Amino acid sequence: MTTSRKRVLSGMQPSGLLHLGNLLGALDNWKALQEQYECYFFVADWHALSTNYADTSRIREFVRELLIDWLAAGIDPKRSTVFIQSHVPEHAILHLLFSMIIPISWLERNPTYKEKQEEIKERDLSTYGFLGYPVLQAADILLYKPDYVPVGKDQLPHLELTRELARRFNSLYKPVFPEPMEHLTRFPKVLGTDGRKMSKSYGNTINLSDPEPVVRQKLKTMVTDPARVRRHDPGNPDVCPVFDFHKIFSPPPVIDQVNRECRTAAIGCIDCKKLVADRIVERMAPIWEARRTLIDRPNQLDEIVQDGSRRAADVAHQTLEEVKEAMKI
Ligand code: TRP
Repeated sequence: MTTSRKRVLSGMQPSGLLHLGNLLGALDNWKALQEQYECYFFVADWHALSTNYADTSRIREFVRELLIDWLAAGIDPKRSTVFIQSHVPEHAILHLLFSMIIPISWLERNPTYKEKQEEIKERDLSTYGFLGYPVLQAADILLYKPDYVPVGKDQLPHLELTRELARRFNSLYKPVFPEPMEHLTRFPKVLGTDGRKMSKSYGNTINLSDPEPVVRQKLKTMVTDPARVRRHDPGNPDVCPVFDFHKIFSPPPVIDQVNRECRTAAIGCIDCKKLVADRIVERMAPIWEARRTLIDRPNQLDEIVQDGSRRAADVAHQTLEEVKEAMKI
């Protein structure tokens, strides 16, 4: 079946459990995109090896959890092709072919290469696979010739490198690859329970897989305006991460009420947190429900992924044939 819809592709590494930041920053966006575009969403399990090669014990679990979270958050396998990178070996083949033409200097100057090495001091990242991370990502992307790649700002250097590689391939051989564009969306900044950016590396997340009591408990202990120590101290919502949650999850009258009553100490932090916890629980409840259904039917999940991987492989295979033809191999 051919369609004239534009194509979207994106992926995530299975390097941990998804949290509210991932929901609002990526999944809600993916869900909206599938209404309009032909979407491919995949779990980048080989990419997870680039930093976690020494401890692979949880990768399979994270792959499964990631898929469950995607589907529970509304990624619809009837509309979107959902698959696992390692189930489509064409990714590895194109990665190898690209490795022949990419200058090492392009990889060494990639800002995330040095930044990540600085950040993750406790693991040895002086590996070939880690340096070549963006080559694999370019293969992931270009195999599907997408029009748009929804990613966060941190991924823009990788996308630029993907386009440069496409141009290099096209000029060395034949014009096989269109240059994909990034698709950036505006989304609210999501802070974690400690007031820093919500991130699994800070351990401050509210995970989609957290049960309701855990979510409520995390919110209870969430930091607030540090200057508001006692119940009768007036607070400043502008510096309170709980108020940021209100802005995302509460209806406007509640946001106004909290904004006013915090400043005069008419409302206390405990009540304020309870208000927002109810809203967050309301938002997460359908996801929890869908997660339970998926967990109860493991075969259904396997079928979805098998079917998605087959569909993805058809497209990937076709592109790889064009690549081989262009390279005369
Ligand atoms: N590098 C991406 C990240 O860490 C994950 C990823 C791998 C990806 N391959 C991709 C994203 C292809 C978009 C397209 O978030």
